[in-house]
Amino acid sequence: MIVLVTGCRSGFGQNIALRAARAGHTVYAGLRDLNTAGPLVEAAKGLPVHPIALDVVDAAQREAAVARIIAEQGRIDALINNAGVAIGGPLEDLEEDEVRHVFEVNVFGLWALTNVVLPHMRAQKSGIIQNISSVSGRMALPGLGAYAASKHALEGMTEALRVELAPFGVRVVIIEPGPYKTDILGRNRALGRKAQRPDSPYADLSARSDALFAKVSASAEDPEDVAERCVDLLTDPSPALRHPMGKSARMRLLARWALPDGVIEAVTKAALKRAK
Ligand SMILES: NC(=O)c1ccc[n+]([C@@H]2O[C@H](COP(=O)([O-])OP(=O)(O)OC[C@H]3O[C@@H](n4cnc5c(N)ncnc54)[C@H](OP(=O)(O)O)[C@@H]3O)[C@@H](O)[C@H]2O)c1
Repeated sequence: MIVLVTGCRSGFGQNIALRAARAGHTVYAGLRDLNTAGPLVEAAKGLPVHPIALDVVDAAQREAAVARIIAEQGRIDALINNAGVAIGGPLEDLEEDEVRHVFEVNVFGLWALTNVVLPHMRAQKSGIIQNISSVSGRMALPGLGAYAASKHALEGMTEALRVELAPFGVRVVIIEPGPYKTDILGRNRALGRKAQRPDSPYADLSARSDALFAKVSASAEDPEDVAERCVDLLTDPSPALRHPMGKSARMRLLARWALPDGVIEAVTKAALKRAK
């Protein structure tokens, strides 16, 4: 299959690209900045992985990347919308550019890239779109509201898209990871500018969220697990819509399903109170 994966500099994207290529697929690995391709290229030696410039918020790059794949391969079978950013901080402590950037990458860029790919998949009458959401796409933690809002938006879009595309033979799935050891917990971890100020009215909440974050990060799982699921789904003829990944995501989503909002809220408040 011809597979386009976004956000392959690190984390899930890099793991998915390598695993898909090892499984015999031809992979176009999108990178926001081609100068960062080194580790991917090194790991992909001998494998059919083609690094490709693809900042998902850049319309010209979206068009050029898909045009190159069609010119070289004549088709595109899978789009794995993995590129994503997060921002931490209580909502009042975030500024407009910070929240807009999260939505530009996680929602608008993803939607627009999907729209460049879809005419080809509809013409082929086959294909799969895999959208990497998060457990935060189903429930929101304090201090991660903007990220959760973007992933909730993605979940809504993806549910609709799945039914819209079914008559064209295009499959659509959502991957919902819990915490995994990737650069989003390190190099790419971002905190709102105002949220970092000691005079913020939310300083205590932020300190507690930080302590919770450290605990969660320490128990984060191996991203290879998510890559394995994404690669298996490429050839699944009738995949389920949602794929929660990792112990913590499965537990939290089960709780979300089984418990009333009031109980979930009380548990969240108690966890924050204990943190620090
Ligand atoms: N790890 C987790 O615990 C976790 C849990 C749930 C969901 N997720 C989701 O998993 C996806 C992948 O994240 P990750 O955990 O693997 O973190 P990561 O290692 O930070 O990877 C994110 C990737 O997205 C790229 N990216 C950022 N902005 C981009 C843009 N405008 N255009 C194209 N690429 C862009 C990054 O490139 P640069 O580094 O060059 O900016 C990086 O390669 C994200 O959608 C994230 O929300 C992660």
